[in-house]
Amino acid sequence: MSAITKKTLKGHVGFSNYPDQVHRKSIKKGFNFTLMVVGEASIGKSTLINTLFETKIFPEREDSVVTELSKGVEITTMSADILDNNVKLRLTVVDTPGFGNSLNNDNSWTPIIENIDSRFDSYLAQENRLIHSKIQDNRIDALIYFIKPTGHSLRQIDIEFLKRLHTKVNLIPIISKADTLTSEELVGFKQRILADISAHNIQIFKPTTTDLYDDLETIRDNKETLSKIPFAVIGSENFVELPDGSRVRARKYPWGIIQVDDPETNDFRTLRRMLIYNHMEDLRDYTNTVLYEEYRTQSLLAMGHFQDNSVFKEYNPALIAEEDRKLHDIKLQKMEAEMNAVFQQKVVEKESKLKQSEEELYSRHKDMKLSLEKQRKALEDKKKLIEANARPVTPMDKSKKKGLFNL
Ligand code: GTP
Repeated sequence: MSAITKKTLKGHVGFSNYPDQVHRKSIKKGFNFTLMVVGEASIGKSTLINTLFETKIFPEREDSVVTELSKGVEITTMSADILDNNVKLRLTVVDTPGFGNSLNNDNSWTPIIENIDSRFDSYLAQENRLIHSKIQDNRIDALIYFIKPTGHSLRQIDIEFLKRLHTKVNLIPIISKADTLTSEELVGFKQRILADISAHNIQIFKPTTTDLYDDLETIRDNKETLSKIPFAVIGSENFVELPDGSRVRARKYPWGIIQVDDPETNDFRTLRRMLIYNHMEDLRDYTNTVLYEEYRTQSLLAMGHFQDNSVFKEYNPALIAEEDRKLHDIKLQKMEAEMNAVFQQKVVEKESKLKQSEEELYSRHKDMKLSLEKQRKALEDKKKLIEANARPVTPMDKSKKKGLFNL
């Protein structure tokens, strides 16, 4: 493995400016944030959202609680571009009027779950397109769940809702209209709510602190935020003039006023710091990397895509590379087997040819040997004959020739 060279530049090359470039680009483009609000009618949803973002996001409504009772749960969407110190935020608020307003609220969470799922589906479909044009991200980044200030504990509908939604969205449960409870009542109420949340294993959004990276102020901030969960808040769109002439958002009572932003009386400021100043990006990040990932995996599993990996591959370069490597190996193995088979065939053919020519040679050798043997025998016979005919001439023979013995 080659060593990694570490070098601190003495001069200025310029890439240290990269985080600023990203920052400037993001500021120019602006940020998107999608917030869902759930809670029964008149619990203070629109007042709180308008107060949080200091913008009239919810339009003025006529009191239509009775009409909504008969309609069931609806999903309505509002968007606003908010400019804060030249930074643009495209805020989308998804309201769920009608939730918890029926006599029988069983399944009143169903349209909400369907809406969250359909936003994930739309994102998944866009990711799945072969040509990735700009992806429209409508996923819900956080859900503020309004708990009725009963002072008791969570109601069954709260538990059922939170249990069903906690794997799909960042849940931020809040106690609304906190000014209707005393501070002692609020302490006990919060404890019972937390006990219910823990007993039902409900995951809610909590800022996390990493001692390694976070500065002391962030660590302190996060600790304070955690200590206030579930936030007990009050909202007001009305301004009240203080004796010093400043104007503040507050609620007026016969005995005086409560400022929305006063940490002594309620947790509005902590909620706002967490949601907008400190953890907006964490909420988006958790939605994308944990909640959406889980949904995507489950959806693809349900569609049976992981069996052949056909869809999952498109999103997973590591899997594609692994698959390619496996295919390549299989191809090589096949080629090797084919080459071996051809080689074996050739060897067998060659061997049989050799054997055949050996046999031919042998038989030719045998024939030749036989014929030579025959020739040798014939020659021997001939020799014998010649030898027999070539006997030496005796005196008798000579006399016979001269006729001496012709008697
Ligand atoms: P729907 O539109 O019916 O869903 O109501 P909503 O949940 O949006 O409630 P909204 O904000 O319209 O508030 C209903 C009433 O409660 C209004 O009269 C508000 O002024 C009042 N209200 C809102 N916030 C608070 C609060 O923190 N404390 C008190 N005491 N009243 C509040």
